[in-house]
Amino acid sequence: MIKMKNLTLGYKKEKILNKLNLKIEKGEFVGIIGPSGAGKSTLLMSVVGGIKVFNGEFEVLNYDMDKIKKKDLVKLREQIGIIFQGYNLVDRLSVLDNVISGMLKDIPMARAIIKYYKEKELKKVQKLLQIVDIEKHSSKRCDELSGGQRQRVAIARALASEPKIILADEPISALDQKSAKKVMEILEKINKELKVTIIANLHHLEIAEKYCTRIIGINKGKVIFDGKSNELNEKILEKIYEGETLEEHELD
Ligand SMILES: Nc1ncnc2c1ncn2[C@@H]1O[C@H](COP(=O)(O)OP(=O)(O)OP(=O)(O)O)[C@@H](O)[C@H]1O
Ligand SMILES: [Mg+2]
Repeated sequence: MIKMKNLTLGYKKEKILNKLNLKIEKGEFVGIIGPSGAGKSTLLMSVVGGIKVFNGEFEVLNYDMDKIKKKDLVKLREQIGIIFQGYNLVDRLSVLDNVISGMLKDIPMARAIIKYYKEKELKKVQKLLQIVDIEKHSSKRCDELSGGQRQRVAIARALASEPKIILADEPISALDQKSAKKVMEILEKINKELKVTIIANLHHLEIAEKYCTRIIGINKGKVIFDGKSNELNEKILEKIYEGETLEEHELD
């Protein structure tokens, strides 16, 4: 799915991530951990392009990210779902309309505006709403939902385009523990049952350890650790979170 070889990434003249050597395969659930400013979001967003390649090789779904043309970038982005901490939903629209907007490439814009959807499309939305356990709220406006419910709608919308990869940048940072657990369980189910590759930046170490099949720890733009959670130890964690206390990354 993703191949990085001696890859250096950044913005304009500033190099942020150095000499990355990472291969991410189909079906992995990767958690990225590290202190603030380490480069987690930069690493995650590089997968959909827009981050400068200074050196090395970088492939996503067989596209060469250094030379990718605009047309191919559109095709690549259609295959990747993104979830943010702030949900990015249209508040005044219903749950159903928000989720169906994720399938817009299959629906002419005019139909979306007048809300004329086909039976097949509505069936698909129902299925997605079931996956994230929100079908009973399908006609509610998104601003009537709790944070956890909104994030589940955002996941359903990301799934609507049948992505091969889901990128999640701190998907649970704004949620209470119970809602966070539910969101992580849904991501785990999507990863296991639909075989969608998931890469998530996570602030809480215990959450990353519990749900991710692989953890990548970065500090100051360098990969410090890449392995399974049971291979992590105190010494490695101190190296990853250098400058921050471990308590900052524990659940309250
Ligand atoms: N658009 C941008 N232009 C220039 N520099 C940027 C841009 N976005 C981020 N940076 C810089 O890149 C570095 C890494 O930032 P990034 O957002 O990737 O860190 P992060 O690990 O996600 O941090 P946090 O945990 O606070 O979200 C920082 O030094 C930041 O200032
Ligand atoms: Mg970030």
